[in-house]
Amino acid sequence: MSDSPAATDEPLGFHSIDDERDERLAVTGAVPSWLSGTLFRNGPGTFRVGEDSVDHWFDGLAMVQRYSFADGAVHYRNRFLRTDAYAAAQDGEFDGGFATGTSTLRDRLYDTLFAEPYDNTNIIVERVGEEYLALTESPRWVGLDPETLATTGHVQYDGPAPAGDLTCAHFQYDPARDTHVTFDVEFGRQSHYHVYEMRSPRRRQVLASIPVDRPAYMHSFALTPNYVVLTEFPFDVNPLAFFKPGRQGPFVENFDWRPAAGTRVHIVDRTGGGVVATARSPATFGFHHVNAFEDDGDIVFDLETVPDAAAIETLSLAALRAGDLDAFGGRLHRYRIVDPEGTARVERRLLYGGGTALPTVSPDVWLDRHRYVYSQGTDQPVTEWPTAVRKIDTETGDVVEYDDTGDHFSEPIFVPRPDGDREDDGVVLTVALDTGADRSVLVVLDGETMTERARAPLPHAVPFDFHGRYFPELTV
Ligand SMILES: [Fe+2]
Repeated sequence: MSDSPAATDEPLGFHSIDDERDERLAVTGAVPSWLSGTLFRNGPGTFRVGEDSVDHWFDGLAMVQRYSFADGAVHYRNRFLRTDAYAAAQDGEFDGGFATGTSTLRDRLYDTLFAEPYDNTNIIVERVGEEYLALTESPRWVGLDPETLATTGHVQYDGPAPAGDLTCAHFQYDPARDTHVTFDVEFGRQSHYHVYEMRSPRRRQVLASIPVDRPAYMHSFALTPNYVVLTEFPFDVNPLAFFKPGRQGPFVENFDWRPAAGTRVHIVDRTGGGVVATARSPATFGFHHVNAFEDDGDIVFDLETVPDAAAIETLSLAALRAGDLDAFGGRLHRYRIVDPEGTARVERRLLYGGGTALPTVSPDVWLDRHRYVYSQGTDQPVTEWPTAVRKIDTETGDVVEYDDTGDHFSEPIFVPRPDGDREDDGVVLTVALDTGADRSVLVVLDGETMTERARAPLPHAVPFDFHGRYFPELTV
C-alpha cells in the first residue's frame, strides 16, 4: 500500500466511491421489451480506504453492479462485497494482492498455501449451478445473493483433487453439457496446471494435470466441444523463488518476460485423453481469448494479443491517472491448430489491428463458429481509455463503431433476442462514463447497426470496471 492520494489525484474513472445505490433508472429511448434478465458487472469500486491506497487498477476493492431489465425498465443496484479483503481494508490493511504491496512471492504464497487465500473477487460474476460467485485469480470464491448483492460467504472445493494456488477467473461455459471449465496453477518444486470441469462449484473432474517448470501467467483460455486449449505465454515465474529470500516486490513483478521461449499451446482432450499435444507459436502476450470452435477437425480460436507483458505495467494507477497510456492496443488474432492430435501445427493471422479491449461474442455462439466480435475500441497505440464500442466482422473485416464524444465505454455485452435468426440480432449493453456529466450511463445499442436504442444515467460515476455477465434467467 502507499499513502493515499488526494481525491483530486483520482481522475474520473480511476476515482473511488463509497455509496451504494438501489434505484430505478430514468430511460431515454426505448429498451426492447424482450430484454428481460440481469446484467452483473464487477470491478474496483474504490482504490483508497482511509489513509491507504493501492497502486494498480486490478487491486481496487470489489464492487458489483446489477442492472435488471423488465418491460422496458432498468433497475440499478451496486454493492461492495463484504470480503475479508474489504474488512482488512477497513482495519487499515489495504493490500492489493496483484500488483500492490511489498511482500515477497514466498510470503504471498505462504499466505495462499497456509492461510486463507486473498478474496478481493473483483473480476467477474459467474453462476455455477445455482450459486452466483464473484471471482478473482485466487481459489477462494465469494458467493453473493443475486437480488440484494449481499455477500453470502466463501466457496472452495472439497474434492479429492489438489487445489491450486491460483485459479483462472475466466471460467468457460459449455451450454451443450451445462458445465464450466477452468484451471488452477499449483506451485511447488514440481508445479502443475490442473484443468477441470465442474457441474457445481463443489464438485470437479480433473481433465489433465500438466507438469510445468515455470508456470506462466494465463488470464484466460480457449474451450471447444472436445478440447481445452491453454495458451502459455512466455511470462512466467520460477517457483523455486518461493524458497529463496531476496525477491521483493508485488506478486506480478516476480514474473519474467522470456520471449525466446515462445508461446506453448497445450491441447487437452475433454473426453479423458489428457494432453494430446503441446504446440509451439511465436512469443506473444494477451489477457483474453474471445471464443473457440472446431472446424473440420482443426481448433480455431480468437485471441486479443499485445506484443509483450508490458501491458500489465501500463495498467498501474500512476500511469493511468497521469494519462500515460502510450501502450500497444489489443489486436485480434485468429489461431488455427491444424490436426490437433497429429502434427498440431499452429497458424496465426491478424483479424483486426486497430485497438481493441475486452472482446466478447454472443453467448449463442459460445464454443461454436462466430462471426461478430464486440469490443471496446481504442486508438492504436492507445492514447486514452476506450472511446468507442466496435463490432468486428471476422468474415469480411468490416468494422462498425459507436462512439459518443466525451464517453468512455466498458466491455460490451451482447444479449441475443430470443428466437432471433441472426448472430447479431440483439442488443449490446455497455456502461459509458460521461465525463461531461460526471456520471455513468447504461447504453443499449442495436447489435446489428451499433446505433443507440436507449440510455439510462446512473446516480453516480462508476470507476472503470472489468467484466460483465448477462443472465436471462434471472428476472425480477
Ligand atoms: Fe479478464
